[in-house]
Amino acid sequence: MKEHDSITLTIDGQSVTGRSTDTILSTARSHGIFIPSLCFFEGLTPAGSCRLCVVEIEGSSKLSPACTTPIGEGMRVTTQSSRLSRYRKAIIELLFSERTHVCAVCVANGSCELQHLAQVLGVDHVSYPGIGPALPLDVSHDRFVLDPNRCILCTRCVRVCAEIEGAHTWDVKNRGIHSQIIADFDIPWGQSTTCTGCGKCVRVCPTGALFSKETSRAATVATPFNLVRLLTHRAEGHQ
Ligand code: FES
Repeated sequence: MKEHDSITLTIDGQSVTGRSTDTILSTARSHGIFIPSLCFFEGLTPAGSCRLCVVEIEGSSKLSPACTTPIGEGMRVTTQSSRLSRYRKAIIELLFSERTHVCAVCVANGSCELQHLAQVLGVDHVSYPGIGPALPLDVSHDRFVLDPNRCILCTRCVRVCAEIEGAHTWDVKNRGIHSQIIADFDIPWGQSTTCTGCGKCVRVCPTGALFSKETSRAATVATPFNLVRLLTHRAEGHQ
């Protein structure tokens, strides 16, 4: 099969087409079908880490991440079901329980993708005990702040810094719930010799983990890319 061969598949009963290089997520979105996502950011290499975009594929008992699964001829995909809804809600709840996401006192309140996905997916409580370690903020940069308490480890900042800016300032240290975003070799951000101060990491952060010192709550309502999609989706009356 050639790279740009047309592929026909079914998503939620709707016959759609895409190219052989397309993923389920990109194909669904290009046909106006909503699949929630958090770690995905258009233009960056998909990380496939948050698992919020999982879908059902006929013939497979496993759930598959839509952002990293290529489409296939004759594939039958389901993006909305009670099983998927349960799974996605559990992911959002786990993210809320892992760090401290108190929306009322967050600079991203009203423009946070985690907050809006919780609303869209109907997460009205968190079933898991809150871990919420009190992690120190990094305010050493002249213009920006890193608040690891709001970080969901989507690694958008890591990828945009490496793939678009080419600075490779951000990385992740430790594993599991101890994972944290670090600048250079785990030094204060303001001492980084690689950071160009471009602010791309701040622009792609879905929560209030990275923000500008000049940002007021009102300013953050200038919604980031994915949030526009979410709000459009809600305005269209989808679940
Ligand atoms: Fe697909 Fe995160 S958006 S795994």
